[in-house]
Amino acid sequence: MNNKITLKKLLRMKQESEKIVMITAYDALFASIFNDYVDIILVGDSLNMSFAGENDTLTATLEQMIYHTKAVAKRSNRSFVLFDMPFGTYCTVDKALASAIKVYQESGADAIKLEGGVEKAQIVRALTQNSIAVFGHIGLQPQKVRLEGGYSIKGTNDKERIVADALALQEAGAVALIIEGVKPDIAKAVTEALDIPTIGIGAGINCDGQVLVWSDMLGLYDAFTPKFVKTYLKGRELIGKAIEEYATDVKSSKFPALEHTY
Ligand code: KIV
Repeated sequence: MNNKITLKKLLRMKQESEKIVMITAYDALFASIFNDYVDIILVGDSLNMSFAGENDTLTATLEQMIYHTKAVAKRSNRSFVLFDMPFGTYCTVDKALASAIKVYQESGADAIKLEGGVEKAQIVRALTQNSIAVFGHIGLQPQKVRLEGGYSIKGTNDKERIVADALALQEAGAVALIIEGVKPDIAKAVTEALDIPTIGIGAGINCDGQVLVWSDMLGLYDAFTPKFVKTYLKGRELIGKAIEEYATDVKSSKFPALEHTY
C-alpha cells in the first residue's frame, strides 16, 4: 500500500517528464492485472458500450459506476483509481456535490473525472473547495455525442477555445486533464500552458501521459476501432479459439478427463 500512486506523485511525474500510464478497467480481475503496470486505472463510462452493449455512454448510472469502481478499487492497491462521472450527474453545483460525495463515500475512488470546459469551471471549483479531487475531460467529449451528432475530432479552429477550457479548469482547481480527439498541436499547446498533468487519448504524443480503453487495446471490442488505438493483443481471436476448443472437448467427451474428476 505504501507505493500507492498519489496526486503528488502524478504532479512530480509531469515536472520530471516521466510519462503517466492510464488504462480503463471495470472489474476486480482485470484491475488486479493492470495494477502492477499502470499509474492510473480509470473506471470509464465507456463500460456502458463495451460492457453493457449500449450505443453510447449516456445511459450509464451513478449506481452502476459505483458498483464497478468498488470492484476495481478493491484490487488496485498501487494504481490511482479514477471515477468517471456519468452523464446527468454533475449538471448543477448541488447535483455534482451530492453525486461526488456519494462516489467518495461508497466507491473507493481517489478522484473523479467530468467532461466539459469553461462552462464546468464553477462546478469544478465547488467540488475542489469541498475536498474532492477532479480530473477534467476536454476536446472530444463523448457525452456530447447526441448534441454534436457524432464524435468529431477537434482541429485548428477549436484550438483557442480548448486552451481556454484547460486554463479555466486548472484555475478552478482541477488536478489533471484528459484531452481527447484533438490534433496534436492543440494537445501540445494545452500541455505547455498547464502546471497540472495532461493525459491524451487520440491527442498525439505531446501529452504528459496516455490512456486507452482496455477492451480496445486488447482487441476485444469489435464494434468500432478508432485510428488512435494500438491493438496489443488479438484478444477476440485468442479467446474465440480457446472457447471453440472447450466446446469441441465437451461435445466429443474429451473434457472432463480423469485428472479433472474427483
Ligand atoms: O469512458 C472512458 O473510457 C473515457 C476514456 C475514453 C478517457 O472517458
